Amino acid sequence: MRINGQAFRTIWQVDAGGDVAVIDQTLLPFAFEVRTLRRVEDAATAIRDMVVRGAPLIGVTTAYGVALALREHPGDDSLAAAIETLVATRPTAVNLRWAAERMRRTVAVLPPGERAARAYAEAAAIAEEDVASCAAIGRHGLGLLRQLAHGKDGERINVLTHCNAGWLACVDWGTALAPVYAAHAAGLPVHVYVDETRPRSQGAFLTAFELGAHGVPCTVITDNAGGYLMQQGEVDVCIVGSDRTTAAGDVANKIGTYLKALAARDNGVPFYAAVPFSTIDWTLDDGVHEVPIEERSAREVTHVRGRAPDGKLEEVEVVAPGTRVRNPGFDVTPARLVTGIITERGVAAASRAGLAALYSGHERH
Ligand code: MRU
Repeated sequence: MRINGQAFRTIWQVDAGGDVAVIDQTLLPFAFEVRTLRRVEDAATAIRDMVVRGAPLIGVTTAYGVALALREHPGDDSLAAAIETLVATRPTAVNLRWAAERMRRTVAVLPPGERAARAYAEAAAIAEEDVASCAAIGRHGLGLLRQLAHGKDGERINVLTHCNAGWLACVDWGTALAPVYAAHAAGLPVHVYVDETRPRSQGAFLTAFELGAHGVPCTVITDNAGGYLMQQGEVDVCIVGSDRTTAAGDVANKIGTYLKALAARDNGVPFYAAVPFSTIDWTLDDGVHEVPIEERSAREVTHVRGRAPDGKLEEVEVVAPGTRVRNPGFDVTPARLVTGIITERGVAAASRAGLAALYSGHERH
């Protein structure tokens, strides 16, 4: 995707087999800076501090983190320590564990001298696969948006999304936003209502930024406005991403997603999750009770970050000092509230049978 006319991905190798570069997402949309990851610890810190975030990008960063560790020390201990460090960073996005296990499977069988080169190649392959998956999700989601457009007689199609599941959350294109970009490219009049997504404001900071940079019309709304807009008939479809989708079709995503699904059901608005293979956790059936939910720092709730009049990024306190706060980062939308899951293989029913029909035989990889 483009920023100021220049094509970017969210992560890339600076030199073949060398350092890895990422866009620092903690500074967007007010500043655009690239950070260099040189060691596995840099990759782990970037994930933990949300310099990179979004389930697919976390997975790809994990893969490059393993490669960075192996170029320094290619032995078994280094491989095990790298994976342990990376897996401990963020618990909910299953792409992290998926990418770590894939890297382990790929390199552990090789003599140490061959591991680093193979690890870089595998990380690059995971990144390319993510781009291809997101593009395919876009094509399948476009079919759904075309159907909605038929009933609207040329009027704009209003999509509501939560958090950021665009290209910034992936390597390119995005998951939930890929159908939007495909529709925009196809000339459909698409408009996006963007939940601001407190506490980290990924909607206001990242989704609005990337849609705007690409020329897709969007409107930022407070996290509490979606239900009202659905009652007023102003939302045609909700499309969200996912950090972990169970084999039964339950969708873990940024906190607040579940409330949007409830409002969508009450108002007859279709609610889709856009999910690549790497986000499906085939070991889980009951998302509400089994998906580990990240508890994040109280400071994200007690303070709000933004740009001050002097142009500097600042945090201001917004909660009475001493007040107890909770900050669960994700929630789970049960499959019964999900109209369908848009995957790179097509649109599945949100059920074990629906997902298994698309991925039959591939669940273990
Ligand atoms: O805490 P974040 O910003 O990593 O959370 C991101 C989300 O919840 C996204 O919606 C999800 O990862 C899907 S990204 C394609």
